[in-house]
Amino acid sequence: MPGIDIQDLDRNAVRLLVPDLPTHKDLSPFLDEIDTNRIYTNFGPLHTRLESELAAFLGVKHALCLSSGTSALELAVQNLHLPKGSQILIPSLNFPSAAIACIRNGHDPVFSDVDLTTGSLRTDIARQALQKNSKISAVLVSVLLGCSTECSDWEKFQADTGCRVVIDAAGAIGHIKPPNSISTIYSLHATKPLSAGEGGVLATNDAAAAKELRALSNFGYTQQGLEHVGTNSKLSEYHSAVGLAALQAWPKAKAKRLSLFSEYTEKLNAIGLPAFARVMNQTGVTSTFSLVFHDVVGERAVEDLAHAGVETRRWYCPHLHRHPAFQGFSTTGPLKNSEWLSQRLLGLPFHTSLTSADIDQVCAAIKTLQR
Ligand SMILES: Cc1ncc(COP(=O)(O)O)c(C=O)c1O
Repeated sequence: MPGIDIQDLDRNAVRLLVPDLPTHKDLSPFLDEIDTNRIYTNFGPLHTRLESELAAFLGVKHALCLSSGTSALELAVQNLHLPKGSQILIPSLNFPSAAIACIRNGHDPVFSDVDLTTGSLRTDIARQALQKNSKISAVLVSVLLGCSTECSDWEKFQADTGCRVVIDAAGAIGHIKPPNSISTIYSLHATKPLSAGEGGVLATNDAAAAKELRALSNFGYTQQGLEHVGTNSKLSEYHSAVGLAALQAWPKAKAKRLSLFSEYTEKLNAIGLPAFARVMNQTGVTSTFSLVFHDVVGERAVEDLAHAGVETRRWYCPHLHRHPAFQGFSTTGPLKNSEWLSQRLLGLPFHTSLTSADIDQVCAAIKTLQR
């Protein structure tokens, strides 16, 4: 997503996202293991351990560790075995990965509107879309901005309609548990609360799906030879080492994010937040902190905040259907809520290096926007 040029920001500015990755010291026991094992990739011992620790963490039978959240989504879509040219419903207020995963698998995304409060797709919106367009055969649900989604509703939707569902919970590893019957993906990108630097997780309880997905991530090889047309999306041992060290640090990182969120909300309320904006719903450990302003937020606001030493970003602006790469694809109708939200969402600095003084600076800068 484009944002303000780093060069334009003051060196002391409060940054939007600062990765919180393990230090050299925290990593070194894992790196020592790699040196001893002399295994660097191809489902090595650290990769295997990360998968079993993540499966326990997520409460799921299989947590495949892959090279990115986007590659996890691409494989999840391939694993649906839809005929080429199938139509897949995705919310237009979104990161591009879901649409990319559809198109790279030879399918057509159909862009849907979202709920105005949570910015997410709801099952009743998807059911209406299916009534209007019976060719839709799958739905990719995205969990954005720290909002929750009713996973049990999506399981019921899938059972009732026969329309397959994949949940993209890229930034939501702290608060979305994979539902029993739906593949769920997470990102381990550097800016996510739990990170391997780069990486992704595909969580599923379906042993047959997990077996095929494992083969797909390794070019398509099974013991019978090259059985599928796959790709190479394996996670290396070095990235797995970072993931294992990050899991050890998770309780601390989680507590810090939760306390920063409360402090932010309190201080924004003290400057009269409800009069001009609301905080996006929060249900757990989020990767971002976002406001929805009552009025349109322009690039001018982002620049003014940058001059006040605060880096911000307009998330999902424009929403996907407005991007040149996706304009040829259809929509379920007017995307009013996606349009409305994309004009009013603003991501504020949120990361574990944030101090109370930084939050004060952000709040003071936001207050000046109201004048
Ligand atoms: C909703 C969503 N899906 C997918 C992704 C892509 O994840 P990755 O960067 O690991 O490919 C992101 C990245 O931020 C995201 O926000």
